[in-house]
Amino acid sequence: MAKMLQHESIAMFMECGEINNMKLDKKMADALNAQFNKEIVSASIYASMAADFFGKNLPGFGMWFQKQAKEELAHAEKIHRYVDEKGERVFYDAIPKPQDSWSKIIEALQAAKKHEEYITASIYGLVETARELKDYGTESFLKWFVDEQVEEESSVQNIIDQLEMVGDSNMGIFQIDRALMQRK
Ligand code: FEO
Repeated sequence: MAKMLQHESIAMFMECGEINNMKLDKKMADALNAQFNKEIVSASIYASMAADFFGKNLPGFGMWFQKQAKEELAHAEKIHRYVDEKGERVFYDAIPKPQDSWSKIIEALQAAKKHEEYITASIYGLVETARELKDYGTESFLKWFVDEQVEEESSVQNIIDQLEMVGDSNMGIFQIDRALMQRK
């Protein structure tokens, strides 16, 4: 009898454990998987911008975008780990070929800003999906990304503002390039 009770409580404990670690709804898992791939695509775009800047002897811009590309891969990794923790797995999509070069520095930065706005909208879409599904764990996980997007959009906008300030001044561009090397 005592043995049976022990068995029953173990079964109940396991059931509770399953409830606490509920698998992701398919819609949520698919949306997170899409975001995982968007982060990898972001890394590819920024790595291509870095290559273009290094090729044009603008190492500060190059290093800034190289670090940005690494951050994007870290974002993808964060989603990968979360999806794993929730008992699912990620799937890799093909990466589209990124643009190779930008005729003006500011054009690359404006493209990066536009891309970040697209990513922000995508993250907001994930939050909406989590809310629809009452998946509060995923909503909480996504808060980090919501905050990160505010920072990302702002840091790109700061560089655009500086470029607009110096216009075509080579000295101004040289100084911005040197300042961007300081990025941690
Ligand atoms: Fe991972 Fe730049 O958003």
